[in-house]
Amino acid sequence: MARLCSSTSSNSVFIWTCFCVLVASNLAEFPRIKHNTHRNDDSVAFLVVGDWGRDGNYNQSRVAKQMGEVGKKIGIDFVISTGDNFYDTGLKSVNDPRFETSFSKIYTAKSLQKPWYTVLGNHDYLGNTEAQLSPALRKMDNRWHCKRNFIVGAGYADIFFIDTNPFVNDYFINAKKQKFDWKGILPRENYLAAVRKDLDSALSKSRAPWKIVVGHHPMRSMGYHGDTREIVDQILPILEAHKVEMYINGHDHCLEHFSNRKGSMQFLTSGGGSKAWKNKFHYGVHNNASKQFYYDGQGFLSVKLISRDKGALVFYDVYGKPLYSIKVKA
Ligand SMILES: *[C@@H]1O[C@H](CO)[C@@H](O)[C@H](O)[C@H]1NC(C)=O
Ligand SMILES: *[C@@H]1O[C@H](CO)[C@@H](O)[C@H](O)[C@H]1NC(C)=O
Repeated sequence: MARLCSSTSSNSVFIWTCFCVLVASNLAEFPRIKHNTHRNDDSVAFLVVGDWGRDGNYNQSRVAKQMGEVGKKIGIDFVISTGDNFYDTGLKSVNDPRFETSFSKIYTAKSLQKPWYTVLGNHDYLGNTEAQLSPALRKMDNRWHCKRNFIVGAGYADIFFIDTNPFVNDYFINAKKQKFDWKGILPRENYLAAVRKDLDSALSKSRAPWKIVVGHHPMRSMGYHGDTREIVDQILPILEAHKVEMYINGHDHCLEHFSNRKGSMQFLTSGGGSKAWKNKFHYGVHNNASKQFYYDGQGFLSVKLISRDKGALVFYDVYGKPLYSIKVKA
């Protein structure tokens, strides 16, 4: 490419073609946000919550309050949302009052006034998807960072956020009465191929000791929805090839931890931001991984990456009580 671009201006058509190819491939790459952790080492701490926006109802406000307490105690750098940010049908427009009533006026604790890195869930796609992706929301609340696919580089970690919604076949062939806003996604096969390729290339370039991938849909779950076959088939092999340490998701309204057979990859569901208690389970249907923890209720997750190879995870309930804690290794 460099050689082509240095050709002389006598061949301007040729140069122009080359320029377009460069721009197109840059657009396809996941944008990267550098998050400065302001510490004297590269340690990182953050909370993860999913499936939350219900105007404070169904214990959303209680979970929010306890996130504030834990966020203060461990000194978080940011919050991650695993999607389904606004129920039941996303945001109608950038002026939808639910942005305030389900987000800005709910997560009010001082410790939560940090960037919120968020992906979209299937319920967000039932509204105006581009409204949630719009930078106009950041003018109303500067914490909001929502994109389809992006990377956050923070201290010891590179965190890869991917939009898993377009992978799910049912949303295209068996959508029933649901109307998904697929603007910007079609033709679907091209889009999915680009996501797989760009994720693979971004992971191969990463030099971070901790590689974490975040998406809405679970790969390993014994909750109501269970494993998402499409991403197990199409995304998991990429994560395994690049030795990703954690995959974090929502969608099932519960808290869970699975490990792969070797114990080298952790699957974490944090989808307990509001309505929960489904009381319906998938017992090892095609899990092919070992269950470490399952809680059919509300709460959230904290992640601390203490060093290049030591991390600590804790799941909390609506009272802020630690339900389950583990040490993880990179
Ligand atoms: C709120 O949380 C409590 C404690 O876990 C639970 O008993 C209750 O059912 C929850 N309320 C709702 C509406 O989910
Ligand atoms: C379980 O894992 C094994 C070994 O990787 C694989 O051959 C098999 O297809 C997997 N089964 C399911 C149901 O995913």
